[in-house]
Amino acid sequence: MSTSSSEVSFKQYGGNAAENYERYFVPAIGAPFATVLLGAAALQVGERVLDIACGTGVVTRLAAEQVGPKGAVAGLDVNPAMLAVARSVPSSGAAIEWHEANAESLPLADGSFDVVVSSLGLQFVADKASALREMRRVLAPEGRLAIATVGPTPPLFAILEQALARHVKPEVAAFMQAVFSLYKPQELETLTSSAGFRNAGVRSETLSLTLPEPREFLWQYVHSTPLAAAVAQIDDEARAALERDVVAGCRSFVKDGILTEDISVVLTTAQK
Ligand SMILES: C[S@@+](CC[C@H](N)C(=O)[O-])C[C@H]1O[C@@H](n2cnc3c(N)ncnc32)[C@H](O)[C@@H]1O
Repeated sequence: MSTSSSEVSFKQYGGNAAENYERYFVPAIGAPFATVLLGAAALQVGERVLDIACGTGVVTRLAAEQVGPKGAVAGLDVNPAMLAVARSVPSSGAAIEWHEANAESLPLADGSFDVVVSSLGLQFVADKASALREMRRVLAPEGRLAIATVGPTPPLFAILEQALARHVKPEVAAFMQAVFSLYKPQELETLTSSAGFRNAGVRSETLSLTLPEPREFLWQYVHSTPLAAAVAQIDDEARAALERDVVAGCRSFVKDGILTEDISVVLTTAQK
């Protein structure tokens, strides 16, 4: 089979998914979410902060800067590859401890943090009620919670989801559904209050993302997520068809050569 242009662009990404996550996803999407989340968390100098589902640590490092050397910061994630990248990126301000663990059962002492934050992670946790109870347990009295999730699915990501269902398989497209699965204010408020938190509040903010041109956007996103392994298994023709659909679908989102998308950050805040 001849090598299609899609084959070339699919294969030009070296590194594992965690390295690509830090290289591509974090600057375009993770960092803007981190800034909005920490705006809601209103960290004070010297506070002790825990970042749940920290991934490669974009929120963790920003929190370390904000609380400064007198603070203390911990990042926790279930995926050792994400933590390996997190450990390798330089940080400033507070010292950071990294923990490999499931958010449902934290290997951390009661009352040991002033603030628990989490960005783009809680939607993937199977037992969200346990995770929220654990977040509350490790908070000191009056400690604060700030969680960022995302949804509903914006049009650009719906195009990606449909193209993945068509050219890879529906089970793979289900990953995209999981990403945008936890955004309804009532559900988030109930989950948080049921875990024992007080003053639970949920609000949305619109973020205007600036993304790479459609073909780059597709392959960078695929290579930064668990989608990479599944897309590696389809043949060249299916990859070329996936790329054609996504590029055609994204066309109306490109203005002056730039791909943009408005996306809703959902902020859940509460107090112990
Ligand atoms: C989209 S990434 C977000 C990472 C980081 N918070 C950020 O904003 O870039 C989702 C992260 O959630 C982690 N995760 C998923 N389920 C988890 C669980 N049950 N416990 C801890 N981490 C989990 C994944 O390993 C992944 O690193």
